[in-house]
Amino acid sequence: MKGIILAGGAGTRLYPSTLSVSKQLQAVYDKPMIYYPLSVLMLADIRQVLIISTPEDLPNFRKLFGTGGEIGMKFSYAEQAAPNGLAEAFIIGDKFIGDDSVAMILGDNIFHSAGLTGLLQEAKKIKKGGHIFAVHVHDPERFGVVEFDRRGKVLSLEEKPEKPKSNYAVPGLYFYGPEVVAEAKNLRPSVRGELEITDLNRKFLKRQELDVTVLPRGLAWLDTGTHDAMAKAGSYVQIIQEMTDYNIACIEEIAYHKGWIDQKILDKTIKKMGKSSYADYLKRIEKERV
Ligand code: DAU
Repeated sequence: MKGIILAGGAGTRLYPSTLSVSKQLQAVYDKPMIYYPLSVLMLADIRQVLIISTPEDLPNFRKLFGTGGEIGMKFSYAEQAAPNGLAEAFIIGDKFIGDDSVAMILGDNIFHSAGLTGLLQEAKKIKKGGHIFAVHVHDPERFGVVEFDRRGKVLSLEEKPEKPKSNYAVPGLYFYGPEVVAEAKNLRPSVRGELEITDLNRKFLKRQELDVTVLPRGLAWLDTGTHDAMAKAGSYVQIIQEMTDYNIACIEEIAYHKGWIDQKILDKTIKKMGKSSYADYLKRIEKERV
């Protein structure tokens, strides 16, 4: 399975912070925001990832991750010339996806929970159709919204409805079979001029090829849309890391535990991280592995 991180957009709601540095490269507590969605793909054992961003920001992502070799992965990069919608990622990623299934995660979506890996491993079994998730929220009108019947069967999907039919939002993590590319190419732009992921998911729903898993109540899906939300996300990470004594989204730790990198490569990263607390954590991880 291939992975895509969509990390474009203008980030205007975070101006002036995002005037020169993209939203997904801003720090959420001790690491760039994109580490969090990347760690989700890693936990799903996805090692080939395409990062899509704006022509201005893409060089910075390249600078951050390079080939991906430092975490035993293989990164590719592609530009999205304008924010034409989430579903455009599959058109941009056409060649990269090839005949494989694909998982796409938004570069500003942060997920955290103990049972996350199991959910991901289940979703990645997909060969055809789509598999998305639903999270209970208090402000569903801000998101894609999924409506269920009493038995949990999906009745409808709507993008930012004025009157949401439920409190279940669709978070920015999507799994599809390889036919998603052709389906995305057949989409027409919405009234706001975007190729909507919700329209794509509706196509699969109509054909009864869409699975929707409700995420468990212990799972945190963090918002990063405003300055307040960013500050809260940072506090969440700080508190969880301190309380549990383990870091969230430490990509080198995941790679090391999965055996994707050896001690030599980890040592190099530790040196690179200088005198940071991130470096201290990596040193501890290296010692504990023995
Ligand atoms: O976060 C989950 C929500 O993401 C879903 O519930 C919605 O169904 C989905 O449409 C999307 O809604 P948003 O309003 O959050 O989309 P937004 O336009 O803010 O874009 C989400 C991220 O993707 C953001 O970091 C910018 C980036 N992006 C967005 C567009 C439209 C791109 O990289 N390229 C794009 O063309």
